[in-house]
Amino acid sequence: MIRRVGERLVIATHNEGKLREISALLEPFGIACTGAAELDLPEPEETGVTFIDNAELKARTAADLSGLPALADDSGLCVEALGGMPGVFSARWAEAREGNRDFALAMERVWEQVEACGPQVSRDAHFVCALAIAWPNDGQTESFEGRVDGQLVWPPRGGQGFGYDPMFLPEGHEQTFGEMDPDAKHAISHRARAFRKLVAELE
Ligand code: IMP
Repeated sequence: MIRRVGERLVIATHNEGKLREISALLEPFGIACTGAAELDLPEPEETGVTFIDNAELKARTAADLSGLPALADDSGLCVEALGGMPGVFSARWAEAREGNRDFALAMERVWEQVEACGPQVSRDAHFVCALAIAWPNDGQTESFEGRVDGQLVWPPRGGQGFGYDPMFLPEGHEQTFGEMDPDAKHAISHRARAFRKLVAELE
């Protein structure tokens, strides 16, 4: 059982979709969530070398500035042939001109680099999601990690999901995350697995 979170938790994200999803998940535990934007908290630069580093950095910044416990996440795609890249740089690989993100371009970048490794190279990849809760004042943090293994496919398949979903075929399935019904993806995803670990501790 992790240390008491209390009745209010800051969610260290400026992404409204993430805030809604996380709030719904924590509501049954009597925890009310407040987004970082509502408290005017800055978005720290993600300088960590691991997902946990980045999640802890975001949670710690929000906890220290708000004086409340804070939860943050960080996630990405790790490709075996590329030594785990794009990893913590998954969002950055999608950066196109004028600060827009283009995941068709990001998927092409990944595939080009995998192809450049030769025809026999492994297509194995996994998604990771790290969650961190930081408490204000005493520097304590708790972290949880979820992972889903699979293989890269080319060309990308499916118009559901987001990011790298269309090129990721989860192990034991015939549809990519991009083809799967969102509920089916959410049942097995890295994010769901990390949240299950966190919620088990809250219980
Ligand atoms: P962040 O955790 O919001 O920093 O997101 C990191 C990046 O990882 C996203 O912009 C996506 O590119 C990628 N990513 C994380 N989770 C998923 C997923 O479930 N599907 C596809 N791409 C993902």
